[in-house]
Amino acid sequence: MSEKNNKKLKILLVEDDESHSELIRRSFESSPVTAEISVTTNLAETCGKLNDFTPDLAIVDYLLQDGKGTEILKDENLNITWPVLIMTSYGDEKIAVEAIRLGAIDYVVKTGETLSSMPEICLRVLRQWGLIMKEKRAEEKYKAIFESSKDAILMVDLNQNILEWNNGAEALYGYKREEVVGKFIPIVPKDKMKELRIVHEKLLNGEHMQNFETRRKAKNGTFKDVVITLSPIKDEKNNIIAVSSIARDITTEKKLKRQMQQTEKLTGIGQLAAGIAHQLNTPLASIRLSAQMLEDAVDNNESLHDVKKIVRQTEYCSKIINKLLEFSRPPGAEKRWIRLRLLINDVEKLLEKVLSNKDITIKKEFTLKNDKILANKNQIEQVVFNLISNAVDAMPNGGVVVIAVEVSDDNKICVKISDTGPGIDDEHLHKIFDPFFTTKKIGQGTGLGLSICYGLVEENEGTIDVESAPGKGATFTIKFPLTNDKSG
Ligand SMILES: Nc1ncnc2c1ncn2[C@@H]1O[C@H](COP(=O)(O)OP(=O)(O)OP(=O)(O)O)[C@@H](O)[C@H]1O
Ligand SMILES: [Mg+2]
Repeated sequence: MSEKNNKKLKILLVEDDESHSELIRRSFESSPVTAEISVTTNLAETCGKLNDFTPDLAIVDYLLQDGKGTEILKDENLNITWPVLIMTSYGDEKIAVEAIRLGAIDYVVKTGETLSSMPEICLRVLRQWGLIMKEKRAEEKYKAIFESSKDAILMVDLNQNILEWNNGAEALYGYKREEVVGKFIPIVPKDKMKELRIVHEKLLNGEHMQNFETRRKAKNGTFKDVVITLSPIKDEKNNIIAVSSIARDITTEKKLKRQMQQTEKLTGIGQLAAGIAHQLNTPLASIRLSAQMLEDAVDNNESLHDVKKIVRQTEYCSKIINKLLEFSRPPGAEKRWIRLRLLINDVEKLLEKVLSNKDITIKKEFTLKNDKILANKNQIEQVVFNLISNAVDAMPNGGVVVIAVEVSDDNKICVKISDTGPGIDDEHLHKIFDPFFTTKKIGQGTGLGLSICYGLVEENEGTIDVESAPGKGATFTIKFPLTNDKSG
């Protein structure tokens, strides 16, 4: 034997046949592998022995007087952290399978040859054990990274069923691991299913995808903007068996970017709108005046009908022009301390008639004591008015509008206006703050309401945002900086 091993191996030998123990002992004496062999002859004795002896390896006879040697593998109290080699006097496949299943590292049939080459067998077993432990440690390390990652890491099989789901995925998407493992991936919004199929196909062709931006839907129905890295996972034969996905939440980043783009867009459109509105205002006023004069002059009904139509339409055009002028109003309106609950009560009074006609109830949740903001009263009134009007328009058969004033998670004073209407389609959600975007019939909406709100809120150092899902109503949230004003 060429192998030198200076470290004394600590071997636990569980063997009731003294002659076999002797053979094993002798095999070590004539080998360069030095060993301290501690012998026990039955299961009961073995359990006691382990209190003060931790072996590097145990060699255990299968047939003992008080039971099978494999019993020690079942004993959880023993906390076995070393390899166990099972020996029997005769070859039996079943015993071998049972021993390995219970956690034995290997199985040898006792022959003169195996007993005398026990030092080599022990070294082989220890090498094998070392490799298993190394693999286990690596697996534990990856598992720790997988579990503790803030990124949402998940793995799906070829049918898009979830195989793995880490804590980051639980935090981002709101589903617990046990809710999703084995099930079809639940976080892909309807409008992204086609994209998912295309991406999946690419991955199955072996492609990797990095920094792929898309949207996912969390358990509570909210949408998350994510950037994902996707990779195919292969088995030893190089067949793709699964796909891994690491996603980072970029919802806030995207929102800020969208807000900046929106502001830029509105500024540009605002300047253009102001120009057009001023140009149109004078001729329109003159058309209207002339038409009104004609109203008194015409003497037949048919012409009167036409003239009245001209007046009505010019009035509608004036309304649009006034809104355009509002939309492009010069900044710098005077700001004062205003109390949100008083302002909301005033707006509610203005809308009292409309609300009762349409069977709409307003529920107010004013939990905040200091609800003061530094803002222009008329402008914020207009914002609240527009938002409630939109909610009213969305509920022609009645419903509830909840207006809450509270402090948000990010420490801002916020006004939340929610309704029980049909909500806003996902495809419209990104467009509603755009000027002239409306789903209302011609003559019923200009599509300027929300873009005006956007500009007004921004001018008062606030932000406005919307959350909605079809069938679940819409919630508009306006946020303003928290104040320290103690006066009044
Ligand atoms: N609470 C709401 N529920 C459902 N959809 C809404 C709600 N608020 C706004 N919307 C959608 O957003 C669109 C744009 O709203 P916006 O206030 O800008 O214009 P509008 O209401 O259509 O017209 P205007 O404000 O001039 O009367 C609406 O047409 C509607 O489709
Ligand atoms: Mg509106």
